[in-house]
Amino acid sequence: MYYPEHIIETIRERSDIVSLISEYTALTKKGHSYTGLCPFHNEKTPSFSVSEDKQLYYCFGCGAGGNTITFLMQKENMTFQEAIKYLAERENIELEENYLSQEDIEKNQKKQVLLEITKEAAKFFYFTLRDDKFKDVLSYLVDRGISLDKMKQFGIGYSPTDYNALYKYLKEKGYADHMLMESGLFVTSQKKGFVYDRFASRVIFPIFDVNKKIIAFGGRVIDGSMPKYLNSPENILFNKSNTLYGLNFAKSSTSDYYILVEGYMDVIAMHQAGITQTVASLGTAFTSLHAKILKRYIKEVIIMYDSDTAGINATLRAIPILKSEGLKVKILQLKEYKDPDEFLKQRGKDELLTLIEQAQSDIWFKISRIEMKFDTHVPEQKVKFLQEVVLMLTEINSSIEQSIYIDEISKKYQIEADVLKAEINSQYKRPAAINPIKNVQKSSKNHQNVISTEVVFLSTLYHFPNIGKRIKDYILPEMFEDKLLYDLAKAIFETFESGGDIDMKYFTTNYKEVKDQNIISHVLIHKDIRYEDHTILQKMILENIKRLNKNYIEKRLKNTTDINEVQKLLFQKKELDKLYIDFING
Ligand code: UTP
Ligand code: MN
Repeated sequence: MYYPEHIIETIRERSDIVSLISEYTALTKKGHSYTGLCPFHNEKTPSFSVSEDKQLYYCFGCGAGGNTITFLMQKENMTFQEAIKYLAERENIELEENYLSQEDIEKNQKKQVLLEITKEAAKFFYFTLRDDKFKDVLSYLVDRGISLDKMKQFGIGYSPTDYNALYKYLKEKGYADHMLMESGLFVTSQKKGFVYDRFASRVIFPIFDVNKKIIAFGGRVIDGSMPKYLNSPENILFNKSNTLYGLNFAKSSTSDYYILVEGYMDVIAMHQAGITQTVASLGTAFTSLHAKILKRYIKEVIIMYDSDTAGINATLRAIPILKSEGLKVKILQLKEYKDPDEFLKQRGKDELLTLIEQAQSDIWFKISRIEMKFDTHVPEQKVKFLQEVVLMLTEINSSIEQSIYIDEISKKYQIEADVLKAEINSQYKRPAAINPIKNVQKSSKNHQNVISTEVVFLSTLYHFPNIGKRIKDYILPEMFEDKLLYDLAKAIFETFESGGDIDMKYFTTNYKEVKDQNIISHVLIHKDIRYEDHTILQKMILENIKRLNKNYIEKRLKNTTDINEVQKLLFQKKELDKLYIDFING
């Protein structure tokens, strides 16, 4: 869907960022802007700022920033078009459907046909499982403890043994071959014209999207053959990295956390036990898209993967992904039980609920992983253990969270909290960690942005206009190679002439991506207090002027063959090294 510029502009003008964001976090007016607790990361003191004039937000804590549209894209995982649609509805602005492109119309039609095919196939599998001919399969499922009720709810079926029963069935229904092939339900053999049912002789688990539409299937063998499970390949309906098995049911639970498990059988067993806030990421790696989707519904995730090494490794990989989306993470280890399905069978629901209540925080999970490597009764090993724990603690971004763990660790392992603190600080003092640019990058990593020195430089120009005006004579907008930075430099320089403010309209209509809006808000809202120290400011300015000029000269040197020009440039370059201007004092 492509909306024309004037519609986007109307929406931008009419939507009010303060009222939109107030639905997510309480904002208080403070001077020219509003502040509050950041809706993108957990914090106890407000570092989130919203500018009504500029219609931008920026978090000084985590670096999240942008406009109303990118707010919805980041917070609600909407696409640009979805955000426009949402804002339009909110402001009662009419959007006509005829903005759909021909390409979109065709894609939608194709999706509809594929959804019909998966639905027909699911029915076919469902009734096959209830066919007397396959009562062994039904007994297999009953023996595994799945109730008939859950089989119905999850639409479990069976794909018959004849190699192309489903294909024949759907052909008879009149579906075109190219659509059937695109559904992923079939495999063509090398010999032309031979089509097999992909899932033949497998128990079928339909995979639903959040709207309860069947978008794909998983199939399990019932003999020992390999692979144990097979999933539909990805197509325009099915994208593994944003699909969570069981979410269509879990979303109706009132729980404020979800439990993340590995497999189909785990989800079904959990739901059968009444623990309906359970979802699985289907054998594929857990992705940040999965995390973003979960975040739409809850604030906390308990990981309960299989207890084998693969499960533990997958847990360690999922933790930072969930945390960087701002979700709270706990881990439940099943120890001697293979997976939640087995635990429920052997110990039952009540014991699992107790374990869920006692689930460890991600930090304690990591500490216990480290502890396993050492015998902490031996002093030297205890030292090594604590050193590793300290290293891990330095990775915690929130100092409140860090201090809580310092206290807990100090109590549990009988070590002075002050000693731990000193050790952590000495880690920070190591060169790699204090480089300010690196720190900026780290704090904004969540938003997949790298805030470059140029962005910081532009922000300083904007926020210290008196100094900015003087710098202007030494810098050209053309020196910024990135188009957005060039535009920002130009706009900032223009404000020096006009005395007015930036034309936000230009930046909203021309820069639609989250990453660009993040940079815009970084430049226009984020004022780096480090530069209130004038020695640091002066140094930063001079370094940037020299670097930008040098790069610019070098670029021109590459593009010129005029000998006089070359000489002039080389001279300028040499002069540059000597350049010293006191921008602060005169
Ligand atoms: P498991 O092998 O732990 O499956 O794989 P399970 O759910 O415990 O299976 P049962 O109890 O033996 O029936 C966990 C998940 O990994 C994916 C599936 O989504 C499975 O549910 N998987 C596993 C595959 O995609 N392919 C495989 O060959 C195996
Ligand atoms: Mn398992």
